[in-house]
Amino acid sequence: HSSWQFADITLNNMKTAQHFFYQNDTLTVDGVPLDKLAMQYGTPLYVYSKAALTEHFRQYADVCKQFETDDIRSLVCYSVKSNSNLAILNILGREGAGFDIVSGGELLRVIAAGCDSRKVIFSGVGKTASEIRLALEHDILCFNVESFAELRRINRIAAEMGKKARVSFRVNPNVDPKTHPYISTGLKENKFGIPYEEALAGYEEAARMPHIEVTGIDCHIGSQLLDDAPLLEALDKLIDLFDQLAQKEIELKHIDIGGGIGITYDNEIPVAISDYLTRIFGKITAWKNAKYPGQSISMMFEPGRSISGNAGLLLTQVQYLKTNSDKNFAIVDAAMNDLMRPSLYESWHTVLPVAKRQTETKTYDIVGPICESGDWLARQRTLSIETDDLLAIMSAGAYGMAMSSNYNTRGRAAEILIDDKKAYLIRKRERPE
Ligand code: LLP
Repeated sequence: HSSWQFADITLNNMKTAQHFFYQNDTLTVDGVPLDKLAMQYGTPLYVYSKAALTEHFRQYADVCKQFETDDIRSLVCYSVKSNSNLAILNILGREGAGFDIVSGGELLRVIAAGCDSRKVIFSGVGKTASEIRLALEHDILCFNVESFAELRRINRIAAEMGKKARVSFRVNPNVDPKTHPYISTGLKENKFGIPYEEALAGYEEAARMPHIEVTGIDCHIGSQLLDDAPLLEALDKLIDLFDQLAQKEIELKHIDIGGGIGITYDNEIPVAISDYLTRIFGKITAWKNAKYPGQSISMMFEPGRSISGNAGLLLTQVQYLKTNSDKNFAIVDAAMNDLMRPSLYESWHTVLPVAKRQTETKTYDIVGPICESGDWLARQRTLSIETDDLLAIMSAGAYGMAMSSNYNTRGRAAEILIDDKKAYLIRKRERPE
């Protein structure tokens, strides 16, 4: 049973189903029928709802504004890796978003989308010299430093350029996020961040570096977290370190708690974003007012999935129906190169037929044309389908197109944005040439 079948379900305080619903037995995105889009633009096709995207961003931004005071500020930095389409970056930039990036390429996208590079924070364990130079040229807000070697490299490059680099340490708070091992990042055994115990000495070293300005502290413990308890635990650890640094007269300006809350793919019920943020700001406000009255502190967030994930779907067409020893396959024209999540994480994406049929149902594995047994999009789904039918793979707005490849020399899909009942082509289909 998928929650998508119940139009009244409230997800993350928002009716997600509100943007993806049936009209005259045809699935639509904000009222635009998907069969029409398939006819005009072909399949596989990513389709996003601008209304959903902005609503999801405002779930963060509105609560942040609510808690803002003269000396408690905040910035929601959309995590570009979840969906880096230029139109999407542009929309979020206009909404006031900052951006969390992990490569020079993502910085160039933010700039190409007309957004402000001074609202960019740069995470990642392997920043190259040229990426650091590019970021300094564009005066980004902050580097989230993940090792001492990186810190020294940033100091050296900033010196060459006659600049001062703003840095924050990504500390590893050793908190179990209770999520998929591939997307859990805050444990000791992960490659990410600076070990908690080494951070204090590292900050002292950084504070002495002439071309480094220590501005913040951050962490990112994992993705697709449904409960906020591990995040609040991580925040306690950051606050603790902040206090220890203050005693050594290292005064930080911001705290960044990393990625956002998880989303509903099937029937998961994530904590409401407003409740999560209310708890975060409750903690921060009480702590800051008691210990640092008059000092300014900024809270930063790096959500990706919860903004883009349930703002988009992947539309695909059934090519063949096939039965091999009792097993039914629906072979579709989308594949693991378009949406890698099922192959890589065995993750669930709800599959909805674009046209509702009343005919007999069967249980299918939905698979792509790629020459790998791992090329599947969904397994054991009971559907009533025929050859040439269109299927919508839901919750594909995050880590879908962004993780796509040209494997098997397949061109990447086109992307469409629905805005006020109109469809805009926001990225052309790739042609083999
Ligand atoms: N900040 C940092 C430093 C991150 O590494 C990530 C995600 C985020 C923010 C955004 O997290 P979110 O709000 O989206 O949970 N490909 C995987 C997800 C990988 C997440 C990597 N880091 C998937 O498809 O589930």
